[in-house]
Amino acid sequence: MAFFASVNGEIAPADQARISVLDNGFTFGDGVYETLRTYGGRPFHLDRHLDRLRASARMLDIAIPAGDDALAADLDRLLERAANPESYIRIIVSRGVGEISYRFDRIKGPTIVMAARAYEPFAEAQYRDGIPVIISSVRRNSPHALDPAIKSCNLINNILAVREAQAKKAVEPLMLNQLGDVAEGASANVFIVAKGALVTPPLSAGILPGVTRALVLELARTLEIEARQQPVPVRTLLAADEAFITSTLKEAMPIATVDGRPIGSGRPGPVTMRILDAYRRYAHGRAIRPTGPGSSAPSASRG
Ligand code: PDD
Repeated sequence: MAFFASVNGEIAPADQARISVLDNGFTFGDGVYETLRTYGGRPFHLDRHLDRLRASARMLDIAIPAGDDALAADLDRLLERAANPESYIRIIVSRGVGEISYRFDRIKGPTIVMAARAYEPFAEAQYRDGIPVIISSVRRNSPHALDPAIKSCNLINNILAVREAQAKKAVEPLMLNQLGDVAEGASANVFIVAKGALVTPPLSAGILPGVTRALVLELARTLEIEARQQPVPVRTLLAADEAFITSTLKEAMPIATVDGRPIGSGRPGPVTMRILDAYRRYAHGRAIRPTGPGSSAPSASRG
């Protein structure tokens, strides 16, 4: 498995790539990132991930002078060098190299790191049987403190929840927002199915605007499955017919149990499986296209 990384465009084996110990990404967690994967060797929806990367950077006032084409070209070179059949990709942009201080005027940046290693699929059993999740005791960051819409390198909130989930042998922690409603997973968005319709918390619940979440909402429209964005109280989740989580890496992964209590039949439900199937067909470049605002089919080079 080849694992390569580039630092400001310079490619090296990942364990030999170096950034400064004075990098604000390291000293302050002062940066933003994206996780992507390839299908057929090509980054999936690089366009949407770069849009979100720029949105996250804008919210932290981190400038990214490189244009999308330059970033895409850097990523292409990295993927060529790593030469994996399918890749897991991380793009990290930190504010740059500083002085371990809040003297932002002295920082030279940004630092742009891209890393690519072989993509390792999740066990198909997780899709066939569904996964156990917990409701974490760790609340999602309040948008008034650190907006979860910013995909920042500060992942301590997520790490605390994931560690709790792992201790309980769950695959994902579901995190509640400050109102006590379901917000999102530590690295995924959440959907429930109630009376045949999809329901997912709105962006105002304090969540990351997931690329997969948006694609699922668009695919639902194509499939003529009703989809609503509305608050999801815990009791609504527990009473749901089906539930699943979405992310770039997990696609649409069915939830079997929440805190040990089965959701619906405790097995992946028909609506979830229709969504998963449609998502995979779309991602692998087949038949079903999402419909919706700004959802034109991915372009040949950048999709
Ligand atoms: N995580 N919510 C959070 C908190 C996330 O970290 C992620 C993604 C998502 C799903 O977003 P998307 O569909 O765009 O992948 C939701 C990635 C996979 C990660 O952190 O590696």
